[in-house]
Amino acid sequence: MSFEIYYFTGTGNSLAVARNIAEKANGELIPIPTVVNKQSIKTDANNIGIVFPAYDAQLYGIPLIVERFIKKLEDIGSKYIFAVCTCGGIENVNALPTLKNLSKIIKSLGGNLSAEFSIKLPMNTMDYSHIPFPIDQNKETMFKNCKDKIEVICQCITNKKKSKYKITKSLLNLLMTPMYLLLHKVYLMELKKNSKEPKDTNLKFYELIPLTDKSIYTDEKCNGCTVCAKVCPVQNIKMVEKKPVWQHRCEMCLACAEWCPKKAIHHCWRAEGKGSYHHPDVKISDMFKQSKCI
Ligand SMILES: Cc1cc2nc3c(=O)[nH]c(=O)nc-3n(C[C@H](O)[C@H](O)[C@H](O)COP(=O)(O)O)c2cc1C
Ligand code: SF4
Ligand code: SF4
Repeated sequence: MSFEIYYFTGTGNSLAVARNIAEKANGELIPIPTVVNKQSIKTDANNIGIVFPAYDAQLYGIPLIVERFIKKLEDIGSKYIFAVCTCGGIENVNALPTLKNLSKIIKSLGGNLSAEFSIKLPMNTMDYSHIPFPIDQNKETMFKNCKDKIEVICQCITNKKKSKYKITKSLLNLLMTPMYLLLHKVYLMELKKNSKEPKDTNLKFYELIPLTDKSIYTDEKCNGCTVCAKVCPVQNIKMVEKKPVWQHRCEMCLACAEWCPKKAIHHCWRAEGKGSYHHPDVKISDMFKQSKCI
């Protein structure tokens, strides 16, 4: 049995996971940005994997590019589909709503998300001081747990088993509702702030996301090396007089900021002086492949 494993990544976490699964489950690794602009995505593969990061899980969770990809996938109803959502926060709180949204989209297209998984991995260097609980950063434990989880995932998918993310018991869900609502508000406010829209704007979250690059800027350390433009999965950065200029069709993946060799890229959600993060097994050349730059 063979798989096509589609991935989208900013800091490399989802690529590292997708690549590991592809190696173990005899899968072909395909970057979503390299196919997403086709009119429709046709494949003979009967087994499809989708590996992606959770973005603003309480708002929606699914990167817009991943949703565009799914909506273009032909003959979705005939395929065994599994998904792995990588996240930086508490898994239940973040992966559950994300995977449920993904499942809903796939269902609305006539398909079925047969197996849902999540993996917690180290977070990017965004400023999370507005999130009302701590974000654990024990990287070694996370990498070890990730390895173990990938074994479980591979066993499940190679046997084409079902694995649905369990919705927590109703009472617990009820208790969590105020927190979900609070987080929803926090995320929406952050999006409005980052896209420099007024607080009372009528723009929806999916209209605000592409505009969030309005809060990105560079400092004097920028030497015009073009890495940010090359790493951007949606070609959202133009070099003008050796300086990057953002084009407002951002996916919020943070690849430009996290991979800038001079750490010269900043925005209002990125903590100053926190350095940068990318997955240790992922190289810049891997990122260029995702954005078709090599
Ligand atoms: C814009 C943005 C929003 C994010 N929102 C969440 C979130 O709501 N919950 C969470 O657990 N992680 C969140 N994360 C963290 C990513 O899901 C996590 O770091 C993921 O592993 C990154 O994967 P990647 O390296 O493949 O891009 C967010 C990351 C970004 C860039
Ligand atoms: S990657 Fe960094 S240093 Fe290079 S052009 Fe972009 S902002 Fe400037
Ligand atoms: S501009 Fe930066 S954050 Fe936006 S999609 Fe491109 S690499 Fe990602």
